[in-house]
Amino acid sequence: MNKKIKKIFEKKNKSKIVCLTAYSKNIAKILDNYCDIVLVGDSMANVLYGFKNTHQISLENIIQHTLSVKKGVKKSLLVVDMPKNSYVNFKTAEKNAKLVIKKTGCDAVKLESNNKNFNIIKKLVEKKIPVMGHIGYTPQFKKKFKLEGDTSDKANKLLKEAQLIQKAGAFSIVLECISPKASKLITSNLEIPTIGIGSSSFCDGQILVTDDMLGLSGFYPKFVKKYVNLNRIIEKAVKKYTREVKLNNFPTKKYFLNGSRSKS
Ligand code: KIV
Repeated sequence: MNKKIKKIFEKKNKSKIVCLTAYSKNIAKILDNYCDIVLVGDSMANVLYGFKNTHQISLENIIQHTLSVKKGVKKSLLVVDMPKNSYVNFKTAEKNAKLVIKKTGCDAVKLESNNKNFNIIKKLVEKKIPVMGHIGYTPQFKKKFKLEGDTSDKANKLLKEAQLIQKAGAFSIVLECISPKASKLITSNLEIPTIGIGSSSFCDGQILVTDDMLGLSGFYPKFVKKYVNLNRIIEKAVKKYTREVKLNNFPTKKYFLNGSRSKS
């Protein structure tokens, strides 16, 4: 088992696993100092590209952004989302996962569960490709963004799905928008760590879309805590710059290039 994956695995029942998403180097470099896992999520479809769902993001898009993120990641485990239709069967999944890993040097791939693709995970793991699972609200397969596992019957079904993903060999699993009761049930019955998003504090770790928690994306469902409002801060800076350019107050002599060495 890859050392970084082993470290994540060993955190179960000991310390919480910190995860965030990144789509580019500058953000990744900051996250790398704090996060156990950095995920290049297909959420880039909505967040960066403005699509209404995650379906239109391509493998090439994912690879390109991962190449950028990889430049900022040294310590964290770098996990990459396999986009919709890139793992419809084992042959396609193997070809695409190998391509992502070879081209980007990432540590693992994440596959959303459709409650049927356990064998694809199993075969990828047999080929030494580390896989993270993803259950609950899975945007590639479910249209409606809603709470999952909110009855005991549904919670048990999710537990079964999670157990099959664990049995297939996944090293960890994302629980998205799963009720606190179901998250607790799943987390306490699995040996692999669970990473929650909108799934209460009963998970082994947490993930948020970085642009959401920084107040950049404009998408703030109840489970998102906005740690800062970067939209407001950026707007203030752009406004100031605009005013200074218009008044010819920028650039002042301090910013002129006059033959002396320029600042980095
Ligand atoms: O695409 C993504 O960012 C994700 C997280 C929300 C877990 O899958």
